[in-house]
Amino acid sequence: MTLIKNTEKHIKEILSKDASGHDWWHIFRVRNMALLIQKTEGGDKKIIELAALLHDIADWKFHDGDENIGPDKATSFLKQEECDKQIIASVVEIIKEISFKGAKVCTPMSSLEGQIVQDADRLDAIGAIGIARTFAFGGNKGREMYNPNIKAEMHDSFAAYKKNNGPTINHFYEKLLLLKDRINTPTGRKIAEKRHQYMEDYLQEFYSEWEMGL
Ligand code: ADP
Ligand code: NI
Repeated sequence: MTLIKNTEKHIKEILSKDASGHDWWHIFRVRNMALLIQKTEGGDKKIIELAALLHDIADWKFHDGDENIGPDKATSFLKQEECDKQIIASVVEIIKEISFKGAKVCTPMSSLEGQIVQDADRLDAIGAIGIARTFAFGGNKGREMYNPNIKAEMHDSFAAYKKNNGPTINHFYEKLLLLKDRINTPTGRKIAEKRHQYMEDYLQEFYSEWEMGL
């Protein structure tokens, strides 16, 4: 119990000032959603909760594309907390595998626990909250909201996806609308359906307002 509490405290401190949609409340929602999915899908609760809490400890998106920084920081934190070696290995594997890496790149998870945490993270990327996070991220990175002259790109490598800095609306096509068909668990899939439809409706409304008077 203290390990979970200490992890929560550590992450709250690190992410308290984030304004890019990767704040403490994102972690809070992902943890709760992962534990909700676990109730029907099973899996080790401790690994799920620790991985959900630590999955964005240091994201490559904010560290010059460095993919190892998150796994490395999670490993040193858990070692310092004297966490069991097997648990550290399982949690760090999830953190390494969890991220979306491009429209044409597969991101399979090696464990049931990983599938559940990835579903929870992806459910927070879609629907009303997903839309809000995406515009928060775009604003935080100084990106254009929409530019009809710049088309979305279907990235075929993580390297290409990382370099992308197009308008925020493009992110819906490059990632968000693709997530529904990449959810791992039946429980997650059911929740994703409604959130996906909400984004489709939102985009329709966005374009109809954009076109008005043009
Ligand atoms: P992942 O590890 O799969 O990237 P995160 O928990 O780090 O998931 O959150 C990713 C979220 O950050 C996206 O769902 C979106 O809201 C925002 N985001 C990431 N890249 C972009 C982008 N290029 N444009 C707008 N939002 C983005
Ligand atoms: Ni996340």
